Amino acid sequence: MSNENQQPTPEVEQKPSSDKVSPFLSSPLPQGTPQGQQQTLQQGLTSTPTGSVPKYNLPRGANTGNVGETTHFGYQTVSSDDKAQKVAEVFHSVASKYDIMNDLMSFGIHRLWKRFAINMSGVRRGQHVLDIAGGTGDLAKVFSREVGPQGHVVLSDINESMLNVGRDRLIDAGCTNVDFVLANAETLEPFADNSFDLLTISFGLRNVTDKDAALQAMYRVLKPGGRLLVLEFSKPVFEPFSKLYDFYSFTALPIMGKLVANDAESYKYLAESIRMHPDQRTLKGMMENAGFQSCDYHNLTGGIVAVHRGFKL
Ligand SMILES: C[S@@+](CC[C@H](N)C(=O)[O-])C[C@H]1O[C@@H](n2cnc3c(N)ncnc32)[C@H](O)[C@@H]1O
Repeated sequence: MSNENQQPTPEVEQKPSSDKVSPFLSSPLPQGTPQGQQQTLQQGLTSTPTGSVPKYNLPRGANTGNVGETTHFGYQTVSSDDKAQKVAEVFHSVASKYDIMNDLMSFGIHRLWKRFAINMSGVRRGQHVLDIAGGTGDLAKVFSREVGPQGHVVLSDINESMLNVGRDRLIDAGCTNVDFVLANAETLEPFADNSFDLLTISFGLRNVTDKDAALQAMYRVLKPGGRLLVLEFSKPVFEPFSKLYDFYSFTALPIMGKLVANDAESYKYLAESIRMHPDQRTLKGMMENAGFQSCDYHNLTGGIVAVHRGFKL
């Protein structure tokens, strides 16, 4: 981790309208640091419908990343409380170099993966879209154009450094129908029930400590008839390919991270977190457990990445 992590992070500029409740928000936008946010949002967990959904369809021994007192941060076992802090440090550290690193690491292919997910979204003019863990706003920028002036997009993330980069970028691009909201995916507390036509979470879910809670929160804020898309690294389907992929991830990525972002550790975490993330079938089962229906997934680049889709009926 670079020393930048130790520096205080900039305040997120709150929009002047933050004390007025938008139709998509359950209350005025919360104020404060990401850590403060997390506390605020965790207190809101009671409003999330947990524990009532039957468990089914998970393969035996499935790694759901479920959390007790401990969980993983990459290959390390850490307390559940520490994971969120460590993930926050990773993204504070890489925020300014995040976009260029994405292009370098994936040889630009992440743009095609995102394009595929957008094509699966069925987004239409006038719709309300929430991009969760949206970071620097690749998806939100496209959705802003697709929904048009009658529609509305919320770019949300738990990390103010990432959200700042995304906000500046989208404002520069003239996206006037986008709001920027600090929110923990585990609760989505700022958002009212049944308020979005489309939810997306792109390369975000594996960083979330309690993925089941996050999927339940997503179900809560989605309108009946709406859909969720989860774009995430997954399990390659072709064994020889996965050996090469391992070599690339554990050797080349940290070196690139060191050279470009002066941060090898964060990119080592990236490689490890991908291996610890639930595989295709497990994630599909987790979505079904949260209440989503007609769930399916599509492997991209031989299963390095998968797009999962589910609906709220
Ligand atoms: C790899 S980036 C993905 C950014 C963007 N969605 C993309 O596809 O380029 C992961 C993002 O997840 C965010 N994140 C991690 N944990 C989160 C949580 N519990 N709630 C919301 N966002 C979270 C990070 O701050 C980071 O911006």
